[in-house]
Amino acid sequence: MTRLEITMVGAGYVGLSSTVALALAGHRVHLIERNIERLEALQSGQIPFLEPDLQSAFQDCQKNICIAANLTKALKTSSIIMLAVGTPPTPAQGADLSQIFAALEDVAPLLDQTPKLIVVKSTVPVGTNAEIRAFLNSRAPNALFAVASNPEFLRQGRALRDALFPDRIVLGTSEPWALKLLHQLYAPLQHASVPETLAQFRPTQPIPMLEVSPESAELAKYAANAFLAMKISFINEIANVCAATGADVSEIKAVLEQDKRIGGDFLRAGLGYGGSCFPKDTRALSQIALRGGYEFRLLRAVIEVNSEQRFRVLQQLERRLGGFRGKRIAVLGLTFKPNTDDLRESLGVDIALELQARGAIVTAHDPTPSKPEGIDFTSDLNACLTGVDAAILVTEWDEYRNANWKDLGRLMQRKLILDGRNALEPRDMLAAGFEYLGVGRKS
Ligand SMILES: NC(=O)c1ccc[n+]([C@@H]2O[C@H](COP(=O)([O-])OP(=O)(O)OC[C@H]3O[C@@H](n4cnc5c(N)ncnc54)[C@H](O)[C@@H]3O)[C@@H](O)[C@H]2O)c1
Repeated sequence: MTRLEITMVGAGYVGLSSTVALALAGHRVHLIERNIERLEALQSGQIPFLEPDLQSAFQDCQKNICIAANLTKALKTSSIIMLAVGTPPTPAQGADLSQIFAALEDVAPLLDQTPKLIVVKSTVPVGTNAEIRAFLNSRAPNALFAVASNPEFLRQGRALRDALFPDRIVLGTSEPWALKLLHQLYAPLQHASVPETLAQFRPTQPIPMLEVSPESAELAKYAANAFLAMKISFINEIANVCAATGADVSEIKAVLEQDKRIGGDFLRAGLGYGGSCFPKDTRALSQIALRGGYEFRLLRAVIEVNSEQRFRVLQQLERRLGGFRGKRIAVLGLTFKPNTDDLRESLGVDIALELQARGAIVTAHDPTPSKPEGIDFTSDLNACLTGVDAAILVTEWDEYRNANWKDLGRLMQRKLILDGRNALEPRDMLAAGFEYLGVGRKS
């Protein structure tokens, strides 16, 4: 393999997982992080957030990783500069590219006659790579560089596995030398020396590398997230039809997932999607389309269904309790999915605040330490459930799936649970003496 030297800007979920994957594959990575807390954690050998397998793998490949607060030194020896900085939503629900252009302000003065490839891993609207090219051309007119769109598809909770063994790698550039360099970058992934827990996922076939235009690469990322969000809103709509007709969405899911054309992923009915990607990327894609003069009606419906779903699901509990005012309610799970400690666009937080606004007395629990603003929080599940009138399962952590609900139920004032992720077995809950409410399920 050709051992490359890379600068990765941003040590978040994407930047750090990609750094570790590329370092395990044998490349040398300069990881640049401007957030002091994250930087200091990394410099002391600790990864700054919860992500399975990442801590031990980070230690395994430390000799290939060099951590710094700025990229001045790193850029001298790197042939590739990867941008993995955040692109959060703007107040108008577009993508905020200020972190991208702030990073480029640092990169531009360091470009010279040695060719460099700027690779955009962050999720950015169509046309951003072209804007980046124009920006760098204006700031460094004599420099030799190319820009490539290389969107990331990893999932939090299994980020390292996805970074090492992605379903596909998208190479969005028309520059032949840039394409050659990107193939050299990614070809060694398949043979990376990986933690034992991940070895079983090593693909037997070569990882597909798709060469496309920068614009298609940019849009493909949004299309993928919009499609998955659509599956979630679709099954939630089916669950709502189930509730109206007496069918059971779990049985429907079992039928659908046997169909290879449909597949079973992202078909669990529930409270809807949250997190750092689906909400912002679906809204951004809607804007991208509108800016191009096209109204993406299907996507608008996906977003609407998702924002209403939590209220629809809560209604059944409200009816059962005869209103929320004065009721004590345990909210179980604040992170947007299990196996992460990320609270961005957390449904658990939103639901806890909504219940409080409607007069409920809420205590939240999560297996990860958390300090949600304005919400009473405990990391003791027993304490959270003691004396409550009802519990709502918001995030399907194993801790809740595998809990001894018979014992937990004894702590509760009323054994009433709203399973907002259809993660529990209704029969078991009934046997444990619970009133069970699921989403589109017969209880
Ligand atoms: N989180 C995911 O699951 C995921 C998956 C695929 C794609 N993405 C996309 O990847 C991008 C990054 O997402 P993330 O979740 O890793 O974000 P994040 O906020 O966790 O990480 C971004 C990091 O970049 C750092 N940073 C910003 N500007 C910097 C600079 N100039 N120099 C050094 N460090 C800088 C920030 O301090 C932060 O630590 C986003 O565009 C996101 O949409 C995220």
